[in-house]
Amino acid sequence: MTRLVELEATGPRKLDSDDVDDEKGNVAVCQCGLSDSFPFCDGSHRRTRDEADGETYVYDDDGRKRLERVVTSGDESGGADDPDQDD
Ligand code: FES
Repeated sequence: MTRLVELEATGPRKLDSDDVDDEKGNVAVCQCGLSDSFPFCDGSHRRTRDEADGETYVYDDDGRKRLERVVTSGDESGGADDPDQDD
């Protein structure tokens, strides 16, 4: 099974001091989806620093690729934003 998830965050969510483990120190939760230590941030979000607004990227072992367009089954009939489609 493959799951495509779109994430827009380019950095972690740092937890409150009450949530920090005394032994591990600061804990930051990954919001970019690229961490090898998910759900914890490992700094991999730095790869997103030069992403352009409005663009979609795929990251894999070979690096990063920009997508022209993501097509979902909803797009075939105009998608959720289709003003002619009944909700
Ligand atoms: S936010 Fe994902 S690795 Fe840091």
